Amino acid sequence: MLHQAAALAEGAPEAHLPTGRIAELSHTYLMNTYSRAPIAPVRGSGARLWDANGREYLDFLAGIAVCALGHSHPAVVAAVQRQAASLLHCSNLYLIEGQALLAKAILDGSPFGKAFFCNSGAEANEAAIKLARKYARAVRCEEERYEIVTALNSFHGRTLATVAATGQPRYQKGFEPLPPGFRYVPFNDAAALEKAVSGQTAAVLLEAIQGEGGVHVADQAYLQRARQVCDERGALLVLDEVQTGMGRTGKMFAFEHYGIEPDAITLAKSLGGGVPIGALLAKDEVAAAFTPGTHASTFGGNPLACAAALAVVETIRAEGLVERAAEAGRYFAGALGALAGRFPQVAEVRGKGLMLGMELTPRSGDGRGPETPARAVAAACLVRGLLVNAVSDTTLRFLPPLVVSRADIDEAVAILEKAMAAVLE
Ligand SMILES: Cc1ncc(COP(=O)(O)O)c(C=O)c1O
Repeated sequence: MLHQAAALAEGAPEAHLPTGRIAELSHTYLMNTYSRAPIAPVRGSGARLWDANGREYLDFLAGIAVCALGHSHPAVVAAVQRQAASLLHCSNLYLIEGQALLAKAILDGSPFGKAFFCNSGAEANEAAIKLARKYARAVRCEEERYEIVTALNSFHGRTLATVAATGQPRYQKGFEPLPPGFRYVPFNDAAALEKAVSGQTAAVLLEAIQGEGGVHVADQAYLQRARQVCDERGALLVLDEVQTGMGRTGKMFAFEHYGIEPDAITLAKSLGGGVPIGALLAKDEVAAAFTPGTHASTFGGNPLACAAALAVVETIRAEGLVERAAEAGRYFAGALGALAGRFPQVAEVRGKGLMLGMELTPRSGDGRGPETPARAVAAACLVRGLLVNAVSDTTLRFLPPLVVSRADIDEAVAILEKAMAAVLE
């Protein structure tokens, strides 16, 4: 009999445990940090996933914006296989060919001059926070400039500093004391930002679209004013593009919608197409604050992750996926908007490109309809073979892969309509 890991690697359907057994093992042996739907995806291709029982799903969540090229894109698979066969890991004590090539590929044509690679979105934001503080002290010699201003309802990660940066008490509760030096302002409120940014502010850290916070889009005037305020007060403007980056919103980076240039951005999620990698990109002058020994990561930018990410970046460009995301996003948003004609509970469809949210009104005064309509509709979609996610009780979120076709979108909207009819009518 094959060893279990080898059997799974062979991909034979019979090699997979029944879903019930996977659930039992997970329950027994994994820390209870996630509410998991009771399906176990084991194989994917494009916008489709198959679970351990052989059931097919249309994946409109894409690993929460990770699988930008869809599942098992041949370019990523080939790059990972090639790299795994030659060199899996190499320490940052040495030059890493793939890391240098990846940095050039991402930075060329961007306003940024240097990259630092890590393993996740939280780590990329940690690096950004450290860089902003170090820049203030080491380059500008301003000892008192350490504060990071972030938005209420934001999400920046789960490490202690990024939980402190996240302007939502529910992620912070029970983990105090949090690192000091963070200040929060209401999102899309330029006057509040002006008041909060001072000579103590090292950086303003914002999402162009608050993803985990409910797909809330920053206003054009807000981000433009944020840029001005940062310039006037000597603070850096850092955008967290962990969810919005790499074409998701119909531009390679979401800041391109706003006619501004941040001093730095953070990336992760889609960057590796499913292989863990994060990145901090910064302008040369700011990046100069990091010198040998100031920041590091054992696995950051290792050959395997960089090979995958390079394949992702090259494929996004070669297949015109940024433009495709913009076009598919318009089509999808139109189809979601049309559902508002049938369901009065659809209060709003919002977002950019293929990062879309649908706001549903909860139970009305006459006691009809679910109290948590987004959760109920997401569950009804799952049963019907469509993966979407309720980012709150009332907000459904859609993050299909950038390679999604119109036929996939039509199919997803048809399933969604049935699910909404079952739950809302
Ligand atoms: C905007 C944003 N920043 C940071 C993170 C954290 O990324 P990770 O889970 O890779 O640490 C996320 C994850 O959802 C995110 O959406």
